[in-house]
Amino acid sequence: MMGAVGSTAAIGPEAGVDGLDAIMRRGGDGLRERMARTELHLERVTAQAGAPLATHANATIVAGGKRLRPLLVVLAAESAGGPPETDDGEERLVRAAVAVELVHSATLVHDDLIDGAQLRRGHPTVATVAGRQVAIATGDLLFSRAFAELALNDDASQLSALSDASSALAAGELLQREDAYAAHVAVERYLRRCELKTAALFEAACRLGALTAIEASAALADALGAFARRIGLAFQMLDDVLDVSGPVERTGKARGTDLLDGTVTLPFILARERDPELATLDIARLRGPRQAEELCERIAATGALDEARERALAVVAKAKAALPTVLPDGRAALLDLVADSVVERYR
Ligand code: IPE
Ligand code: IPE
Ligand code: MG
Ligand code: MG
Repeated sequence: MMGAVGSTAAIGPEAGVDGLDAIMRRGGDGLRERMARTELHLERVTAQAGAPLATHANATIVAGGKRLRPLLVVLAAESAGGPPETDDGEERLVRAAVAVELVHSATLVHDDLIDGAQLRRGHPTVATVAGRQVAIATGDLLFSRAFAELALNDDASQLSALSDASSALAAGELLQREDAYAAHVAVERYLRRCELKTAALFEAACRLGALTAIEASAALADALGAFARRIGLAFQMLDDVLDVSGPVERTGKARGTDLLDGTVTLPFILARERDPELATLDIARLRGPRQAEELCERIAATGALDEARERALAVVAKAKAALPTVLPDGRAALLDLVADSVVERYR
């Protein structure tokens, strides 16, 4: 499992996605070492800030997670000939991988505060454990450490790639708030939100990886970035399906969290088209997890989950079809497996 590459990481409930295990097995010693170094570095960076911030930042990291974005950073670098064969070259790659995961973790801490979520990676969220202020400060710390790490690579294009994705994330969260509890959200607008919230950071992961490699061309960085962007879009679409389908033992998050928080996602958008009663239901009137769970059942009964899933699978298929077929060291096959693991997460 992905967490096994780390030293002490206690694994989140989803970390052992089989497809990711397969990638680690097939990726060779180089991939395993790079991911293990990334894990150690993540733990070190988050432990350094001192209490109380470091406590929560470090706990967020140590709680595990799939490490999908750092994996994309490393695979993209290896797809572009790998980093220069020096200690410095390796360090630059690991820093990029660490920076992406830190931004991701920062957004999760803030996202859980905004969404009022109780659970993250199988543990109570920072906001639940330590309150609003600590959660805001912990997220800020994780963001600032991410950019401090990447700044050490002394490459403005890497910083631009990550800060563009961070800005997109912020815009995505705002778009989500704007549409909270809305009676109608168009599918296109929902997809735009997913692009901003999630796909942009996936794209940045691959771009950063390519930028640390010796044979990176703009064309290859674009192709890898476009692949990751689609994978990220499908990932968010399927995450939104999982929020409705559950169960909590599998996702580490309470079922119906999105609905309770007013977040209108694709399953609900599609279910409203299929069930006239759902079309008039005001989710601001949902009272508590039990009612949210009942609504999840109603949505599932319309077949909307299957349709949302099919749409996500079509995006994954498009990503795979556009991936360059010949990449060094069998990396195309591994990226293909990453795409499959996104789908597998749903099954
Ligand atoms: C969760 O991302 C947030 C979304 C973009 C849906 P992950 O599911 O990759 O979270 P971890 O890192 O594995 O916990
Ligand atoms: C993804 O959105 C979170 C970010 C990209 C910040 P969600 O709100 O769907 O993520 P989860 O479901 O809480 O993990
Ligand atoms: Mg959330
Ligand atoms: Mg979600």
